[in-house]
This record gives sequence, structure tokens and C-alpha cells, in this order.
Amino acid sequence: MKLLAIVGSPRLKGNTNYLVDQALEEASKLGAEVAKLVLSQYKLNPCLGHDDCGSFDLCLQKDDAAWILDRLCEADGIILATPVYYYNVSAQMKAFIDRNYFLYTHDRKAKARAVGIILVVEVEGIEDTMHTLKLFIGESFAIDGDKIFTACGFAGRLGEAKNNMSLVQEARKLGRRIVETLEEGS
Ligand SMILES: Cc1cc2nc3c(=O)[nH]c(=O)nc-3n(C[C@H](O)[C@H](O)[C@H](O)COP(=O)(O)O)c2cc1C
Repeated sequence: MKLLAIVGSPRLKGNTNYLVDQALEEASKLGAEVAKLVLSQYKLNPCLGHDDCGSFDLCLQKDDAAWILDRLCEADGIILATPVYYYNVSAQMKAFIDRNYFLYTHDRKAKARAVGIILVVEVEGIEDTMHTLKLFIGESFAIDGDKIFTACGFAGRLGEAKNNMSLVQEARKLGRRIVETLEEGS
């Protein structure tokens, strides 16, 4: 079973990445084949909004989006992880979401049967960010709400998430719950 985490924080040693690593470590212990894709490490442009997107065999933009979307489509479980930036997802995560429009216009849906959301915020903005991600998941994945798991909480400066033990535990539990859910359905 393949579990892919898509990470919207550009801070490789930041809070979101740390929590994702915790979740993936737990999932791996339970036998999942895990991978992490940090969006800032790829060339991923914003969507250019071509009206005739659906008529192109390939997106006209020459970047890593097609490769990233293929990885998304083949995963059994997905974790979407982002820090809150101005009360919503980071720019990297928003670009990723928007580039999913290519799948939408080509009637392709990601096959994931369980999805995790990991959010980190310093002070405020969890609700709107969660709302955005849940709407995206509803649009892009054919899964029920009870197969969406969340871990969200507070951390600000680099490395702070390590000290938020309840958040760390939540992230680890999220990793386990995704694997258990995938096993139940197999
Ligand atoms: C551009 C930018 C915008 C931010 N906007 C918010 C915000 O709206 N609300 C908030 O509570 N924290 C905000 N933060 C703080 C981050 O959410 C916080 O530092 C988080 O821990 C970063 O996660 P990371 O270490 O995974 O990158 C912002 C930080 C940056 C750099």
C-alpha cells in the first residue's frame, strides 16, 4: 500500500515537515510504502486558467505538475500538509490544488481511499484552511468524510512542533489511522 504525503511548507526542517515525518514513520511501521513530496523542491507553476484545458492531451506548462499529479493518482493514501499562510494554505499548496484542474477537466480522479490533513498555525487561520482542503478533497477524491483524518495545532518558530506533544501524537495517530483504514478496505 502506497502512502504519499504532499507538503506545502518550504521549510524542510519546519513544523509541517516534522509532523509529516512523524505520521509517515508510524505508517511505515505498520507496513505502508511511504513517500514525501515537498512541493517547493519541484517546479510547479500556478495554473494559467486555459478555458480549453480539457482539450489538451498534456498541460501546456512545462513543469513538474504532470509528474506530481501522476504520483497523486497512483497513491492508495494521501496526506496533504501545509502551514497556514495568511489564513489559508501556502502558495505552494494552492498551486498544487489549482493544477489539479487538469485532472478535473480530463475526468481523472485520484484513487486514494484515505486522506490525512496536517495543518500547522502560529495563531489563527485553521478553520478557513481546513475548509479549503476539505472542499478540494471532496472535489478530487471519491472518499467518504469518515476516511479523512486531521491533525492540526499550534507551532510558530522553526522546530516548535517538536515541543507540542499532543500535536505530535495526533500526527502519529493520523499515520496509523490511514493505514488501518486502507487495510480495512482491502
Ligand atoms: C507568509 C506567512 C504567512 C503566515 N500566516 C499566518 C497566519 O495567517 N496565521 C498564523 O497563525 N500563522 C501564520 N504564519 C505562521 C506559520 O503558520 C507558522 O510559522 C508555521 O509554524 C510554519 O510552519 P512550517 O514550519 O511548517 O513552515 C505565517 C507565516 C508565514 C511565513
